Amino acid sequence: MQFKSPRSLYNHISEKYSINRGKASNDLTELPAALNLLGDLQNKKVLDMGCGLGKHAYEFIKRGAKVTGYDASEKMVELTKKYCGDKGSFFTDTHEKVSFKPESFDCINASYTLGYSNKLPLIFEKVKKWLRQDGLFTFSIPHPLWLLKRVENMDYSKAHKIEINIDAYGIEVFNYYYPLDFYIQIINVNNFKLLNIIETTIPRSYKGKPEEKYRIPNALVFKLQKVK
Ligand SMILES: C[S@@+](CC[C@H](N)C(=O)[O-])C[C@H]1O[C@@H](n2cnc3c(N)ncnc32)[C@H](O)[C@@H]1O
Repeated sequence: MQFKSPRSLYNHISEKYSINRGKASNDLTELPAALNLLGDLQNKKVLDMGCGLGKHAYEFIKRGAKVTGYDASEKMVELTKKYCGDKGSFFTDTHEKVSFKPESFDCINASYTLGYSNKLPLIFEKVKKWLRQDGLFTFSIPHPLWLLKRVENMDYSKAHKIEINIDAYGIEVFNYYYPLDFYIQIINVNNFKLLNIIETTIPRSYKGKPEEKYRIPNALVFKLQKVK
């Protein structure tokens, strides 16, 4: 089935996504990496872009942050609200259209969501505007190696739309693939300082996972800082 927008895709798969999230490794890999990179969140104003099920938002709230989140899919926003209770402010909107006052946030997080947009340069400009001076921006993307098995004839040579085969959902999910130098270019154009990148694998302390999950990374998590 072909989906025209992230909204229609996630409205369609929200239930399966919610059920299968427990089986995915993200809670042991990408989520702790993002939390680690963001550091102390006590009393920080945090924006979670493409909040999905609200897993990140929940952890930010638990760490004392004042959290705002939005998602293109109203069904995913419902799930976030259910997961986070009455804490945080969550609504339906898109990266491309949503607007906040300049310098509204201390930290902005975008986990596994930017790849659904073909307007990455615009989104980075907006994030920079919404962040206060020295504010942090963490974002994660599927690791290029993780894509190799899931995208037929994966082509790393250019930015283009791809279809990712997610076995757990029994469907193909579209994404825009951007080579790493594309990210570096928009990081530099917007004068963000690149502070760190983590390649996430499951720590060996979690026993009983498929062997390759301890060795082959599933995500790249970036930490940027607005410096001017
Ligand atoms: C793979 S899920 C990730 C959810 C969550 N960030 C996480 O890591 O658990 C991607 C989410 O991004 C949302 N999304 C995709 N494109 C979007 C856009 N252009 N604007 C807002 N949300 C978007 C989807 O609706 C979906 O909930």
